[in-house]
Amino acid sequence: MSTSSPHILVTEPIPQAVVSYLQNTGEVTVAQKGAYQSEEQLLQDLPKYDALLCMLSTPVTEKVLNKAKNLKIVANFAVGYDNIDVKAANKLGIKVANTPNVLTEACGDYAMGLLLALSRKFKEAEQYLRDGKFTGWEPLGFLGMELRGRTLGIIGMGRIGQAFAQRARAFGMNIIYHNRSPIDPKKEKALDAEYFNDHKELARRSDVLSLNCPLTEETHHLVDRELLKIMPQHALLINISRGAVIDEAVLAEALHDEIIGGAALDVFEEEPKVHPKLLSAPNTLLLPHIASATHKTREAIGMLAAEAITSVLQGKPDDEIPNLISR
Ligand code: GLV
Repeated sequence: MSTSSPHILVTEPIPQAVVSYLQNTGEVTVAQKGAYQSEEQLLQDLPKYDALLCMLSTPVTEKVLNKAKNLKIVANFAVGYDNIDVKAANKLGIKVANTPNVLTEACGDYAMGLLLALSRKFKEAEQYLRDGKFTGWEPLGFLGMELRGRTLGIIGMGRIGQAFAQRARAFGMNIIYHNRSPIDPKKEKALDAEYFNDHKELARRSDVLSLNCPLTEETHHLVDRELLKIMPQHALLINISRGAVIDEAVLAEALHDEIIGGAALDVFEEEPKVHPKLLSAPNTLLLPHIASATHKTREAIGMLAAEAITSVLQGKPDDEIPNLISR
């Protein structure tokens, strides 16, 4: 391997414009779909590379990092980075970057879309039509929850939480939120949002509860049996954050037992597996982790990750490397 041209591993096919950009910096290997979803393959291959552009499904563990002797940077093709052991990377002097900002609007749109689809029963109604059961307009058919005047509780009021809140305000919803700390008062005022220090009280007051927080030790299984019982029986749950923020087995039971009104889930505890009881749960929308999936956003995510890689490989100082994460 030549020392003059760094080797860059991209763990899934990504937009071509991003690959072309990276090719100006080094020799780029783009893996086939699904090639690096386990530690084994990474342990074997990563030691050959100087930079890693990985997915949220790539397990960049301490064990993997310890073996990656040439690695200088891990750039995640995502804003969430719970797949990377950042502490271990920092200790080894390996930089880590993520991709905030560029996916905020796509995710805000998507959360609103999930809420509309769930509250107005798009999936069930369409299936009914396709099954040939639509025999005429029915005054009592597919009655859903009207959003105006209802309360949206947001757990995790970062950029994406705020983007969702902004849209929900336009639909006449009241916004309450829980966060590590209250957001900037100006932003709070613009959204007419009320802060709740206690997430349980927030859940009690929410007609719709939306998870927009990162997955951390504190948020793991934040939605558990107790919280589901606290939620109003008609309440809808939306999750576009990470699957493990919810105890999936408990949620599946709660949906079957009609403890809550429904759920729209874009993320799962053990992707790509989906809990079998969720698959048969009523009033449940299940989608394959596509909140940021627009052409524009996915290219922007890739470019941001690629810029971080290029900056590190060119030896730029930390303050010139976009979105570095340290722990
Ligand atoms: C997607 O889930 C992301 O974290 O960007």
